[in-house]
This record gives sequence, C-alpha cells and structure tokens, in this order.
Amino acid sequence: MDGSSDNKMPFVNIKKQYLAIGMLIFVALFFFNSRPAFQCQITPEVNTYLPTIYGITPTYARLAQKADLTRLSQTLMLVRNFHWIIIEDSETKTKLVENLLKESTLKYTHLNVKTQKSKHSTASGVEQRNVALNWIRDHLRKSEDKKGVVYFMDDDNTYALKVFEEMRKIKKVGVWPVGIVGGMRVEMPLVTNGKVSGYNAVWKPFRPFPIDMAGFAINATLFLDHPEAKFSRKVQSGFQESEILKYVTTKDELEPLADNCTKVYVWHTRTQKPSILNPKKLKNPPLPDDHIEV
Ligand SMILES: *[C@@H]1O[C@H](CO)[C@@H](O)[C@H](O)[C@H]1NC(C)=O
Ligand SMILES: *[C@@H]1O[C@H](CO)[C@@H](O)[C@H](O)[C@H]1NC(C)=O
Repeated sequence: MDGSSDNKMPFVNIKKQYLAIGMLIFVALFFFNSRPAFQCQITPEVNTYLPTIYGITPTYARLAQKADLTRLSQTLMLVRNFHWIIIEDSETKTKLVENLLKESTLKYTHLNVKTQKSKHSTASGVEQRNVALNWIRDHLRKSEDKKGVVYFMDDDNTYALKVFEEMRKIKKVGVWPVGIVGGMRVEMPLVTNGKVSGYNAVWKPFRPFPIDMAGFAINATLFLDHPEAKFSRKVQSGFQESEILKYVTTKDELEPLADNCTKVYVWHTRTQKPSILNPKKLKNPPLPDDHIEV
C-alpha cells in the first residue's frame, strides 16, 4: 500500500472531475428542461388563431352591481381574445364602472344609453344591446380582422371558461344548455343526429327560439350581413332572444355545442336583492359610509 500523501492527490482529482461532470449535467438539464417549456408557452399563442369574442353586457346601478361586475370581470380576465362591451343604463357613464374597467386587465369598450321607459314594455337591455351591436358593426367595418363571435351576457350570470371555448367553434349560430332558468334545472335544445330537433323548455315553449340569452352566440359577421338585426321593445316578454335570432338563423341551421347540448357551462344565476337597514330608524346608527364605494 502507498503512503497517505500519495492517496490524497487522486482523491482531489476525482472530486474535480465529479464537479466538472456535475456542472455539465446541470447545464444539460437546464437546456433540456427549458426548451420544451419555452415551446409550450409560445407555440399556441403565436400559431393558433382565435376569433375575438365580443361579450355584450348591459348593466345598471344597484347595491350589488360592483360585486356582480367584479365576479364577472375576473372570470373574463381568464378568457383569451375577449373584448368586453359594457353598456350602462344611465344618462352618463359612472365612476364605479369606469374604475372597475380601468383596474381590470380586460380589453373593453364602455358605453351608456338610458332605457326609454314605457308602460308597454318592461324588457331590460334592449337599447343597451342595440347600441353595442351598432358599435360592433362600426368596429368590424374599420378593422382588418372581421372575424368574431358575439355573446350576450348578463352581469350576474355564472360562466364556465368552457363556454367560451365552445363558442369559438361557431360557423353561424351556436347553441347550448343553460342551467337554472325558465323554471327548470336546465333548459336546452334537443339534439338528434347532431342537429337541433326541438327544445326542452317549459316557460313559453311556443317561442320561436325557446332559448335564454346565455344559451347562444352569433358569428359577428352576420351583423354586417344583417344591418337591420336588432332587439325590439315591441315584442312580448321572453321573446328578445327569438327576435334577434330570427334575423340571422333558422332552427335547422343552429349548431349544437357543449357535446351535442349535454353539458352545462353557463347558469342563469340571479343575485338576491340585498336588504340594508335604514340608519335613520336605528337606535345606534352606524357611522356615515357614503364616501366608500361598495
Ligand atoms: C363567420 O363567418 C365568416 C363568413 O362566413 C367566416 O369567414 C368565419 O370563419 C366565421 N367564423 C368566425 C368565428 O368569424
Ligand atoms: C354529436 O352527435 C353527432 C351525431 O350523433 C356525432 O357525429 C358527433 O360526433 C357528436 N359530437 C360530439 C362533440 O359529441
């Protein structure tokens, strides 16, 4: 056996070699790991064309407005290529809605028009949706990319991200089930051999299209082809959907989505009207809070 001093040198050399090999492995792993990751992130964004979804949302001032709009806007922030058109039922745009939009990361257009109240028609959102449709027409005429999908969205409904994936498949008009609406667990088109053959609806089933506003989306190009298409105050309640759809499609043309209308990706939820105690009637009234936006 050699002396201890002879043994030390090879030991030190081996450690250096290990170190060098270790560093090589580290560098190799770094490249190996990072390359597929870069590719995964960049490829779908650059190569996959996604038509813009134009979401049209009428809104009006009320106590739960900011809560409802916060919930909806934060869902919409997760949708790619989405353009939110929000139309206030008011004489002027409010700071509350303006701030909410500014603080979101959304692409948006903020409009306003006051509802023309009449005792014959209590329908809400008619003027607001029509103003939005005209904005879309102007916008599409000017823009190079004329493709898009138009979806009418209530500010208190609940939307799964999947409903947006579905509507990008639309050629003309796509339909799907809506949960908790029309007195039913789910109101939905009936599908036979991949075509809409009827509707499972109990509320005014004689409507030409017994579908809720949340249950369809329309190829935006159709609003250029049909400049006359609009909502109307002259129809009875529940007929707004049929009114707009009649301009752009027929039952035979409807494209059933959400796995042939077997999946629920949107719910017609309603926010309960909150009840606030009148401070003037309280023995121990709370501090004034008018300076706080709620
Ligand atoms: C809408 O219709 C136009 C014209 O037929 C078509 O080019 C386009 O691909 C359709 N879909 C979308 C999402 O725009
Ligand atoms: C819908 O039904 C048709 C006809 O039965 C079928 O060809 C098609 O694959 C179905 N689509 C989906 C998404 O399940």
